[in-house]
Amino acid sequence: MLRVPQAQNPLIRALAGQTNVPPPIWLMRQAGRYLPEYREVRSKASSFLGLCRTPELAAELTLQPLRRFDLDAAIVFSDILMVPYALGQQVEFVEGEGPRLEPIGNAMGIAALNLTSAANTLAPVYETIELVKAALPERVPLIGFCGAPWTVATYMVEGHGSKDQAEARLLAYRDCAMFEGLIGILVEASANYLVRQVKAGADVLQIFDSWAGSLPEDEFVRWCIAPTKHLVERVKAQAPDTPVIGFPRGSGVLAERYAKETGVDAIGCDTSMPIGWIRGGLQSLLPVQGNLDPVLLVAGGRELDERVEAILAALGSGPFIFNLGHGIHPETPIENVERLVSLVKNRPA
Ligand code: CP3
Repeated sequence: MLRVPQAQNPLIRALAGQTNVPPPIWLMRQAGRYLPEYREVRSKASSFLGLCRTPELAAELTLQPLRRFDLDAAIVFSDILMVPYALGQQVEFVEGEGPRLEPIGNAMGIAALNLTSAANTLAPVYETIELVKAALPERVPLIGFCGAPWTVATYMVEGHGSKDQAEARLLAYRDCAMFEGLIGILVEASANYLVRQVKAGADVLQIFDSWAGSLPEDEFVRWCIAPTKHLVERVKAQAPDTPVIGFPRGSGVLAERYAKETGVDAIGCDTSMPIGWIRGGLQSLLPVQGNLDPVLLVAGGRELDERVEAILAALGSGPFIFNLGHGIHPETPIENVERLVSLVKNRPA
C-alpha cells in the first residue's frame, strides 16, 4: 500500500502514466564498484553473496548512492543470482571473472532445486528491505527486483555469463519440456520472492531480462513474454498496487509485443533503442525508462551533455524515467554521475 507522501514522488507518478518536469532519475546498478565507499565495504567482506546476505551491510550499500546523488529511488542491494542460490544451486562470484554456478543441464539437476528452502534463504533480503525503509526518507521509493526467468535460466544452465547464451538456447530447443520445467520453477520462486519483497516494504519492482535479446521471435514469445506475463500475474494477484518495470534488454522491435502482452506497468529501454522509435511507439503504450549509454557516462564531456539533452527533449514530454540503457560501469567517474543528475534536474524549462 502506498503511503500518501510517496504519491508525490515523481517515479511513482511516472509509473502511473504522468509526465514530470523534471523526470525522475535512478541508475541501474547505482550501488557498486564505481563508489569508493562501496569498495571499502566490499574489501572487508568475505564474498559478494555474503554481502547480499548480511542485511546491515546490504542496507548500507543500498543507501550509499542516495547520500551522494539526488536520485528519485533506491534499489535494494542484492543480485539476480540470489534466486538460483536460494533454490540450492552452487553460486559463487569470482573476483574479476563474474558469477560461477554449478551448471544444471539435466532433469536431475532441475529436480534437486528446492522451492521450499528458497523462501528461508532469501529472508535476509526482506530484512535488508525493512532496514532500508526505516532509514530512507519517506518520499523516496525503494525498488525491489528479480531476474526474469529466461535470463536467470541462462546462468543456471551455462554456469556463467556468455556472449550469446547458445548453450541455454540449445537446451531449450533439444529438450523443451525440461527447459519448460526449469522456467516454471523460476516463475514460482520469483513470484514468491517479489511478493515477499513488497510485503517487506518494496514500493516498485523491476524484472531484469538482460539476455532477452538472444532469442528469435517464437522463442522470445515462449521464454521471455510468456513467463514474464505469468510472473507479473502472480505478483499482481497479491500486490495489485505495486508497479512493475520490465527490462527486456536487446529485444528490439519485439519490445512492443513485450509492452503489450506481459502486463508490466513500464518498460526499460536499452542503449540500442532509437529515441525517436521509443517516443513514437513504446511511449504511446507505456511509461518508458532509459536509455543513456553507460559508456557515455564513463566518457563524460560535451557529448554526455548533448545526449542527455537529446533524450530529455525526445522523451521528457511523456511518462518517462531517466536511466541508463544498462548498468553503470565500475570505471564511471563520480563527477560524471553528479553532472548527469544535475543536467536532468536543472534543465531550463
Ligand atoms: O542496481 C543496484 O545497485 C542493485 C544491485 C544489483 C546488482 N546486480 C549488484 C551487483 C542489481 C540490480 C544486479 C542485477 C544483475 N546481476 C543483473 C541484471 C542487470 C544487468 O547488469 O544485466 C545481472 C545479469 C546480474 C548478474 C551479475 N552480478 C553479474 C554478471 C556480475 C558480474 C559482473 C559485474 O558487474 O561485476 C554480478 C556482480 C555484481 N552484482 C556486483 C554488484 C555490485 C559486483 C560484485 C563485486 O563487487 O565484485
